Amino acid sequence: MKKILFASSETHPLIKTGGLADVAGSLPIALTSLGQDVRVIMPNYQSIRNCEAGRYLCTVRVNNCDVNLLETHLPNSNVIVWLVDYPAFFNHPGNPYTDENGIPWHDIGDRFALFCRIVAEVAMNRAYLDWKPDVVHCNDWQTGLVPALLSLEEHRPATVFTIHNMAYQGVFPSNAHTLLNLPGQLWHPDGLEYHGMLSFIKGGLSYSDWITTVSPTYAQEIQTPEFGYGLEGLLAHRQHTLSGIINGINDSVWNPETDPHIARNYSSKTLGKKVDNKTALQEKLGLPIDPELPLFGLIGRLVDQKGIDLVLNCLKEMTGMPLQFALLGSGDNSIQLRLQDFARLYPDKISITIGYDENLAHLIEAGSDMFLMPSRFEPCGLNQMYSQRYGTLPIVRKTGGLADTVVDALPDTIKNGSASGFVFKEAAPGALMETIKRALVLHANQPLWEELQRNAMSKDFSWENSANQYLALYREI
Ligand code: ADP
Ligand code: GLC
Repeated sequence: MKKILFASSETHPLIKTGGLADVAGSLPIALTSLGQDVRVIMPNYQSIRNCEAGRYLCTVRVNNCDVNLLETHLPNSNVIVWLVDYPAFFNHPGNPYTDENGIPWHDIGDRFALFCRIVAEVAMNRAYLDWKPDVVHCNDWQTGLVPALLSLEEHRPATVFTIHNMAYQGVFPSNAHTLLNLPGQLWHPDGLEYHGMLSFIKGGLSYSDWITTVSPTYAQEIQTPEFGYGLEGLLAHRQHTLSGIINGINDSVWNPETDPHIARNYSSKTLGKKVDNKTALQEKLGLPIDPELPLFGLIGRLVDQKGIDLVLNCLKEMTGMPLQFALLGSGDNSIQLRLQDFARLYPDKISITIGYDENLAHLIEAGSDMFLMPSRFEPCGLNQMYSQRYGTLPIVRKTGGLADTVVDALPDTIKNGSASGFVFKEAAPGALMETIKRALVLHANQPLWEELQRNAMSKDFSWENSANQYLALYREI
C-alpha cells in the first residue's frame, strides 16, 4: 500500500471551476478502491460546500504565519481531505483564483506559496499528523513550489507533478522570490527563475521526480512551441520522465442511468427516453419544443482555449439551418457579449446561459444530440467523455485529449463499430462548419445515429484503468 498526498487547488464537489476539480474529486477515490491510502490537501476557501464541517487538527507555523489544518472527507467516501485554513488568505467570497467579480486575487502568489509550504510540511511529517506519504502528487502551478521545496529535504517523499494546463503558469515579478522568502538555492534558470521572473510551474517541471499530463497526445504537444508556452525545451529535456495518462470520469456523478439532475434516466438500451431530456431542456431554456430538431450543446469556460471564436463565426450560418444551440458558460466578457447578441437576435434558435450551473450542465449533456468542443488546445477535456457517456455525439478538434478519446465517424470506423463522434483538424470556422453539416447528415439517418450513440455509450472511460497507471508510476518512482 502506498501513502499518497494529493495536492490540488480545487476538488469537486467542495469547490470547482473546471476539470481539475473533477479529477481531484475522483482519482483519489479510485486509488483508494485500489487499496491505497490517499489524503487530499487543499485550501479552506469560504465557498467550500457539500462536505461535513472541517474538524480542527493542529496549527503549523510557516514563514511567520500560524496556519490551521482541518479535516473533512470527500462526500460518500472515506477519503480524508485536509483543509489548509488561513482566513486572511482564503476566507473570502469568490473562487480560488478570482473574487466574485472575476478579478484575479492580487495576492494569489502569496496564497499559493503559503499553501505549498504547508503541503511540504505535511509531506515531511512535520505537521503533527503522524503520517508520512511515500508520494506527493501535485497538480498545476498552484502546487508547483512543493517539489521545489521538497528537493531541499533529506528523506523526502517522491514527487509527481501533473500538468492540467500549460497556459496557466503562475509567473510573478522577480522580487516575488524575495517577498515570498523562498530559499535562495531555488533561484536560478534551471530552477524557479523564468526570464528573470518567478515561475511556480517551473518548480513542478524542474524538481518533480516525474511529470505527467492528462493525455498522451498533450504530452507530445507540450514539447513543441505551439503548446509549450516557452517551456517546450524544458519539457523535451524531461521527455524520459514525462508521460500522459488520460483522465477518467466519475461514474457516480456522470451516468445517465442514475443522474438525479436530468428529467428522465436512460441507458443505451432505453435510448428512446433520452428525448424527454431534450424536451425538458427546451422548456427550461425557452426554446421551441421540437423533439426532431437537432440540438447542439456546449458547456465550458469562455476562454480562447475552448475555440468559442470558431463557434461564433459559425453561428450566423447555423441560424439558417434547422437546429437549436444551447450554451452554458462564463469567462471572457467580450465573448459573453457577442454570444448574448446572437441569443437576442435568434431567440428561437440560440440559448445562451452565462454563469456556472451544475444542474443545467447535466441537463445539457442529457438533452442535446451533439456537443461542440472545438478547442484550440485541450489537455484532456472531460465534457467530450461525459457527452459520449450520455449518447450525445461530440464534435471536437483533433488536439490533446479530444484526439485521444473521440473516434471520427468515417466509413471504416462506422463499419467496425468504433465511431463515436466527429473530429476535424484545422482550427478554422470552415472546418467546424463542414463537420457540423457532416453530423447533421448522419443525424438524419436515425438508425445509423443510434448505432453511433450506442458505440459512444459503451466506451470505457472509468477511472480504474488510469488509476492503475498512476499506481504503477508511484511504485516506479
Ligand atoms: P477545463 O478544465 O479546461 O475547464 P474540462 O472539460 O476538463 O475543461 O472540464 C470542465 C468541467 O467544468 C466539466 O465538468 C464541465 O461540465 C464543468 N463546467 C465548465 N463550465 C461550467 C459551467 N458554466 N457550469 C457548470 N459546469 C461547468
Ligand atoms: C484542465 C484542462 C482540461 C482537463 C482538466 C482536467 O483544466 O483544460 O483539458 O480536462 O484540466 O485534467
